[in-house]
Amino acid sequence: MSIDVIGIIGGSGLARLEALDIERRELVSTPYGSLSAPMQFGRLGDLPVAFLPRHGSNHQIPPHMVNYRANIWAFKEVGVEQVVGMAAVGGISDNMVPGTLCAADQIVDYTYDRKHTFYEQDLTTVIHIDFTEPYCEALRQRLLAAAATAGVEVIGQGTYGATQGPRLETAAEIRRMARDGCDIVGMTGMPEAALARELELCYANFSLVVNWAAGLGEGPITMKEIERHLGDAMGRALSAIAALAKT
Ligand code: HPA
Repeated sequence: MSIDVIGIIGGSGLARLEALDIERRELVSTPYGSLSAPMQFGRLGDLPVAFLPRHGSNHQIPPHMVNYRANIWAFKEVGVEQVVGMAAVGGISDNMVPGTLCAADQIVDYTYDRKHTFYEQDLTTVIHIDFTEPYCEALRQRLLAAAATAGVEVIGQGTYGATQGPRLETAAEIRRMARDGCDIVGMTGMPEAALARELELCYANFSLVVNWAAGLGEGPITMKEIERHLGDAMGRALSAIAALAKT
């Protein structure tokens, strides 16, 4: 049985997938403009993947400027039906200690002014997608099983609060997000997940907690802290994903 190609959207700290054996690159064209970078096809261990760095090849596109519609459209265009959206996030709940990996299962969306739907032009009728469960449960469960196979701990429950960025949040904003039920906070989870649902892709989140959210750690959030935790968590995250080849 051949294994399906898995789409990986790389977040901060993953502009290049060093472990990827690249077979080819494709600059996919879309009706929504340019993707963040050419799509790279290759293998992560035994897993065939299509990799796209969300912030561009040189990590130059800020979260609110990412062309989420083009990126998601491109996966559909090349026939990749399962996509893992990786994301560096801040930890809000006590269990989201920096270094933790989490496959979120819910979203609260605080973003604004982003092109967030494919359903706005040339409609014969208004379309409302169901988004009760925002992530593809089948892929989430596969990811959790793969992580277990690889001996990597991943928390399988968590609400991702998507903020606009590029600035980090205030302490009061994080207190509000905690009251809203958010466990982690990032800037790119939306509209990516909703666009994937609109195109009926099977999309799951894979978050790397890289700092305590604003006001919860000691002092201000520093890039040094973020980079240290990113470096630590990325290897584990990628072994978990590569183990999808065994599930
Ligand atoms: N807030 C928002 N996005 C983030 C954070 C954070 O604390 N850390 C990494 N991405």
